[in-house]
Amino acid sequence: MSDDDQLALREHVRQRYAASALAVTNKTSTTTTSCCGSEPPAINSCCGGVEIEEGFGATLYDDEDREQLPTEAVLASLGCGNPLAVADLGEGETVLDLGSGGGIDVLLSARRVGPTGKAYGLDMTDEMLALAESNKAKAGATNVEFLKGNIEQIPLPAAGVDVIISNCVINLSTDKPAVFAEANRVLKPGGRIGVTDVVADNHLTPADRAERGAYVGCIAGALSISEYTDGLRNAGFIDVTVEPTHQVADGMHSAIIRATKPTSD
Ligand SMILES: C[S@@+](CC[C@H](N)C(=O)[O-])C[C@H]1O[C@@H](n2cnc3c(N)ncnc32)[C@H](O)[C@@H]1O
Repeated sequence: MSDDDQLALREHVRQRYAASALAVTNKTSTTTTSCCGSEPPAINSCCGGVEIEEGFGATLYDDEDREQLPTEAVLASLGCGNPLAVADLGEGETVLDLGSGGGIDVLLSARRVGPTGKAYGLDMTDEMLALAESNKAKAGATNVEFLKGNIEQIPLPAAGVDVIISNCVINLSTDKPAVFAEANRVLKPGGRIGVTDVVADNHLTPADRAERGAYVGCIAGALSISEYTDGLRNAGFIDVTVEPTHQVADGMHSAIIRATKPTSD
């Protein structure tokens, strides 16, 4: 893909998620903007004038977690998993959420790491960042910082992060090797990745994946399981695992991905 094509695709993604953020902010239906998912999904429930989709977003979190959060943070949840169930956060840790959206995973992480820890959210979309800041204020979170930027060029210094989480975002990147390299750079030695993302069965070609759903819907840009594993290993990670959890399209799955940065090179 040429640089111009990559920029155009990233702008298409940004516009799509700006619309999703505004749908929550303005309390209009998200079904016209949709989110991760190949087709307009089934509607599970409806609250505050904004509909929640079954199999994606807030339905993947425990009631106890949802109840701790501002309604708009719950309604803005557009992921395909629950990375907090994966990351096993501890008191005092520094967490970074790649593509933090309305902030649901950042706010939940902030509670887990406590006042001696810190939770960063990184997103490229102004409308999402505004929604996340509003949710942070409503939640009264003091150990949270939202950063504007691209996950391919993380605006943080090297070796300062204990845990990287992300929920259905890396598939949207037009330069996944850069995301993996940057994740490795900002993690401390021994730091870990615990993310959820869409992956494809190894036999599906890029054309097969594109047939199954849109790039902005988190399907066409998904890596295969072996591409994900190799990409993380090539960036220097060890103990890489990709564990499919539920199918989101024919031969395509939401998955839990774990990896560790070695303690020494
Ligand atoms: C599917 S939503 C997921 C949001 C959030 N993780 C959640 O679970 O609700 C994707 C988010 O990633 C952001 N995003 C997509 N590509 C990005 C990139 N290359 N750099 C930074 N943010 C990106 C979008 O702006 C959007 O907020």
